[in-house]
Amino acid sequence: MRLSVLQFNPIHKNVQENYKVIEKYLKSENNSIVVLPELCTTGYLFESKDELYNLAEEIPGGKFCELLCNIARDNNLIIVAGLAEREKNKLFNSAVIISPDGYIGKYRKINLFYKEKLIFERGEELHVFRVNFCGRNIQIGVMICFDWFFPEIARRLKIMGASIIAHPSNLVLPYCPKAMPIRALENKLYTITANRIGTEKSENEILKFIGQSVICSPKAEYLLKLSEDDCGIFTVQIDPEIEEKVTNLNYLSEDLRELYKRLPANFLDF
Ligand code: ACM
Repeated sequence: MRLSVLQFNPIHKNVQENYKVIEKYLKSENNSIVVLPELCTTGYLFESKDELYNLAEEIPGGKFCELLCNIARDNNLIIVAGLAEREKNKLFNSAVIISPDGYIGKYRKINLFYKEKLIFERGEELHVFRVNFCGRNIQIGVMICFDWFFPEIARRLKIMGASIIAHPSNLVLPYCPKAMPIRALENKLYTITANRIGTEKSENEILKFIGQSVICSPKAEYLLKLSEDDCGIFTVQIDPEIEEKVTNLNYLSEDLRELYKRLPANFLDF
């Protein structure tokens, strides 16, 4: 099975140009699960909700979903991509998942980073999407960027059945690429982190995105580790059986719910 990331430099606020770049790259790939960065049609840095509102799209009704559905059908792809979602007067930092048969679903980011909280509403649900692809049943959990920092997100996706976590990102801090092999190991699944490159400026701020997209295996291996400025679509071949072959020592084989109930569950309990 093929897993891919598209690492590139979205042009800030230029949705139409970003569509063209995304289309060009996706059309060069076939028969793969491809993950794109967070907010990949608009760029990242917005000072207010008003500034982003007209660039955000409805999911699934917007043009970007339509474009991805056409490419997924023609090139036999599963695509997971981050974009700004508009629903009535609210904005969400969302990711869509699309298969060759069309739109499957969306995830709205739970752990909003830094000033994202001034613009986006917080998502309230996690999802694992069940797809039949290239003759296999695959369960894909989705999280977005800063969600990686909270190990309970990946663990819950695993408990919900995920065997792959798709992780659209706009990372600015250096830690996530180091942590992802451990998320993959502790949850016995594959992770696909698609980060962007480049810098963005606003009146008050400049952000540099770190690239370094990674695909990790349940054995804590980097199957792919890009540089800070690699640009393009990059693919690895995985053995879907490996998940089953990794050690069973780690967890879930014992039901520790009764014990855990007696342990502090919230920092306020200390
Ligand atoms: C992030 O969550 N975009 C760092």
